[in-house]
Amino acid sequence: MSRKKTPASESSAPPSSAMWGGRFEGGPSAVMQEINASIGFDRRLYRQDIAGSRAHCHMLVAQKIISEADGKAIAAGLDTIEREIADGDFVFDPVLEDIHMHVEARLTQLIGEPAGRLHTARSRNDQVATDLRLWVRDAIAGLSGEIKTLQMALVGRAEEQADTVMPGFTHLQTAQPVTLGHHLLAYAEMLDRDHGRFRDCARRLNQSPLGAAALAGTSFPIDRDMTAAELGFDAPMANSLDAVSARDFAVEFLAAGSILGVHLSRLAEEIVLWSSDAFGFVTLPDAFSTGSSIMPQKRNPDAAELVRAKSGRVIGALTTLLVTLKGLPLAYAKDMQEDKEPVFDTADTLHLCLAALTGMIGGLGFNKGVMREAAGAGFATATDLADWLVREAGLPFRRAHEVTGRIVKLAESKNCRLEDLALEDMRSVEPGITADVFNVLSVEKSVASRRSYGGTAPENVRRAAAKFREKLTGENPK
Ligand code: ARG
Repeated sequence: MSRKKTPASESSAPPSSAMWGGRFEGGPSAVMQEINASIGFDRRLYRQDIAGSRAHCHMLVAQKIISEADGKAIAAGLDTIEREIADGDFVFDPVLEDIHMHVEARLTQLIGEPAGRLHTARSRNDQVATDLRLWVRDAIAGLSGEIKTLQMALVGRAEEQADTVMPGFTHLQTAQPVTLGHHLLAYAEMLDRDHGRFRDCARRLNQSPLGAAALAGTSFPIDRDMTAAELGFDAPMANSLDAVSARDFAVEFLAAGSILGVHLSRLAEEIVLWSSDAFGFVTLPDAFSTGSSIMPQKRNPDAAELVRAKSGRVIGALTTLLVTLKGLPLAYAKDMQEDKEPVFDTADTLHLCLAALTGMIGGLGFNKGVMREAAGAGFATATDLADWLVREAGLPFRRAHEVTGRIVKLAESKNCRLEDLALEDMRSVEPGITADVFNVLSVEKSVASRRSYGGTAPENVRRAAAKFREKLTGENPK
């Protein structure tokens, strides 16, 4: 403890010979050290690394591969190291390459010779594979909670805006009126699938590589079921070569993350679009807008734009890892050290994007009048008119489509909305039309009529939102 502030490597000379230098005469060049070192980023695995070492130590004692006294000393040393790192009292040194060597070197400082027995029947190859699985499992647990928080924000706003009418678009052209609540819940659905993809990934990754050792297993009588159980894995991985080489769990994490990133980007894009002067559907909360240094009137949606852009980093991370892996023969290759930064960056990026969107969704001001006005523009209820002609006047849909087209043209020439046309005008196109048609031409009536399962009607939105709320929190206010 008294040497706490000393870099762990100072005790060994030449520097990197401590762990693997037995057969070397010269030390590595500075550039070799720099390209080789992962401690700058894999220090983030320290909790998982220490948990893995603890489990391995307990097993070595239980299997009488090391003595109980050595096991106790190792376990106590690991506790100390975990505390030191958590408190920022640990000195990291690039000479010691990675987190595994740092922990072992510090353990040697703390307890002396028994530290050297911890690495019996294991390798950094199974160690790092175990650490990263544990880390991704934790990251998924965290992100899943954050996805739920964003879903709750969407559900809350959807309930509040169940009756708010806005234009629904195809090709970004006004198509049919929809309710804002329905639009928001579309994103809650996407996020539900994202959550499911992470859940699948977590389920599949939950097998333990520990005990695969360098690549071939070990001659020591280890108990891999015991370490797997202590670390919360469902089972040990069945093939030692696969255990140290497999990174598809990380690829799956990045793939699920990329799809989530794309969904977040699409939602962010809606916010950018809706908050523009041309749309004017929403007002961004002050907390999520920025000003311009030259144009005093500006409120820029920077956070939404950044969420949109950051999905690119996540997709890039997926590509990075796929390309890293595609040419690798079994088993471990140092290339795999490059698996961590894409994984860490993706978790950080998604965490930030989810938080920013949750904040934005919660604080958006909805300009209902503007949306209502836009919903009625562009003859958005033309489909309702055609449906009415089918239902009430008995026209085949194709004929109704044509008749409606002519009525739209008429309204266009008179520069008015469909519901502002006189009944006689409509009857001049199709004599079967009666005053009853006005019951479907307003945007409110249009959305209220779309009660088919999954449709936009306010009552559907309220039902879907309540179902979500129940699923997300186990409580149903209604
Ligand atoms: N830092 C290494 C990594 O991240 C640990 C495994 C090193 N194994 C080896 N045989 N050099 O992949």
